Amino acid sequence: MQPDIISVNLSLKQREKICTLLHTLLASTYALYLKTQNYHWNVTGPQFQTFHLMFQGQYEELAEAIDEIAERIRALGYFPTGSFESFSKISLIKGEKGRPKALEMIQCLLSDHETLVQYLREHLPFVEKEEDGATADFINKRLATHEKTAWMLRSTLT
Ligand SMILES: [Fe+2]
Repeated sequence: MQPDIISVNLSLKQREKICTLLHTLLASTYALYLKTQNYHWNVTGPQFQTFHLMFQGQYEELAEAIDEIAERIRALGYFPTGSFESFSKISLIKGEKGRPKALEMIQCLLSDHETLVQYLREHLPFVEKEEDGATADFINKRLATHEKTAWMLRSTLT
């Protein structure tokens, strides 16, 4: 689908590159959202209540982020996909096939949040270079949130 014609002093090529990055973030955030909710449903053990509620807080935050990422893509004139098929092709986050033990769930989510931190930190300079300050601000916020969630997950392991 052709992108919208918009006039915001960003070229089509700049917007395309930025939206490709945001699309990877969208698919990855959706995959992490689904995994976190899966863990919310399926966690067991003596810390059930703590982890059940912690995962709920995390997937609710991710759900809000998903909407914001997709709408940022629209604001840049592009059209995000919204199917599991398309997301699975570009997501950086692998889906969960089994039912891990509680601490393995924590370890897996920690690793996934760190993967997203690494991806965003690596690509932030590019977005800043293209002078899309609004997307750079947004990415910085996502970075801080993933780092905070990673810290909380890490702290339950030590
Ligand atoms: Fe629930």
